[in-house]
Amino acid sequence: MQQQIYDQLGRPLRDLRISVIDQCNLRCTYCMPAEMFDHNYRFLQPEALLSFDEIEQLVTIFASVGVEKIRLTGGEPLLRKDIDVLIARLKAIQGIHDIALTTNGLMLPKYAKKLKEAGLHRINLSLDAINDEVFQAINGRDVKTAPVLKGLDAASKAGLKVKVNMVVKRGMNEQQVVPMARHFKNTGHILRFIEFMDVGNVNGWGESSVVSKQEIYNMLSEYMPLEALKPNYYGEVASRFRYQDGGGEIGIISSVTDHFCHTCTRARLSADGTLYHCLFASDGYSLKDLLREGTTSYEMKQHIMNKWNNRSNQYSALRAHQEEKKPNKIEMSYIGG
Ligand code: GTP
Ligand code: 5AD
Ligand code: SF4
Ligand code: SF4
Repeated sequence: MQQQIYDQLGRPLRDLRISVIDQCNLRCTYCMPAEMFDHNYRFLQPEALLSFDEIEQLVTIFASVGVEKIRLTGGEPLLRKDIDVLIARLKAIQGIHDIALTTNGLMLPKYAKKLKEAGLHRINLSLDAINDEVFQAINGRDVKTAPVLKGLDAASKAGLKVKVNMVVKRGMNEQQVVPMARHFKNTGHILRFIEFMDVGNVNGWGESSVVSKQEIYNMLSEYMPLEALKPNYYGEVASRFRYQDGGGEIGIISSVTDHFCHTCTRARLSADGTLYHCLFASDGYSLKDLLREGTTSYEMKQHIMNKWNNRSNQYSALRAHQEEKKPNKIEMSYIGG
């Protein structure tokens, strides 16, 4: 029987974002800079990762307290062996209505069909430029856009709905905002522009590198007039717009200049089974340790409920008032965005 639980700010728990692996086949400069994530970097060992049995058990408990939406992330989630098997198992859990995956797309030509058959509903594909030189300079592996676009095509052909995520960082790719919009206009794929956020400790974030929602809107509307749309659902992260000429929809995700903490329904599970209540948290709680100590499903449910009931995180809402930068925030590649 599904119930709803609420936190200290009255926000229900609805989404669980699960990182299934902390590794990636790209080295985007703002996420996993190559000089830091090199051959000496210690990624999680296989036994440290939650097993599929453990993930299934946890999702079943989360579903019983109101979670209906699952997002699988990484690192790059398609690097986790047999991810389609996990998807099929999660799909069978009562109460789970939406299973999505965030990917850089490189492995989609190989896996898209399998993922769709397993029950995946949709993907969000990360692509930060449509120009090869700009993209190559960002992704740290000299990959051109063609393999990513091939992945997008494979997903689309397999019947998966696709959104494209573009992180916009000043000095990195802001000149790609309009070309990206032009490329994806009239394709049916929703392009979302993401303000560069101060996640983790290694991406050299500074306020001056944020291209604001307003700025992105202005750049676009100079060439392609837009009009605002209502959110699709409570807690939607992206502000939605449509092209006035009927060319489709875009989104802007503005965690920095126009936060959405007041409707944040998301919990996050890292690849090693630590529960976080905010993307910017540093204080996780190991559900894996509890599971491996023999905690029963009933007891686990009580832990999860108590933790959510006590939740008051709203980092983005308070960001401007932070006295000093918090040290040791979790990295994006570990928690998955
Ligand atoms: P759907 O609407 O379900 O497609 O998903 P989404 O809008 O949550 O999209 P996605 O998971 O692709 O996230 C897009 C961007 O928004 C990523 O850069 C995320 O890190 C960011 N984002 C998602 N959820 C949050 C959040 O709770 N807080 C903040 N600050 N950023 C978020
Ligand atoms: N700010 C905003 N978005 C980020 N992502 C990774 N790091 C950051 C950051 N610092 C994005 C990725 C991907 C999603 C999971 O998060 O590009 O689209
Ligand atoms: Fe990999 Fe995505 Fe991070 Fe780029 S942003 S390094 S593709 S996890
Ligand atoms: Fe939720 Fe934290 Fe993002 Fe605010 S900053 S929307 S609380 S994850």
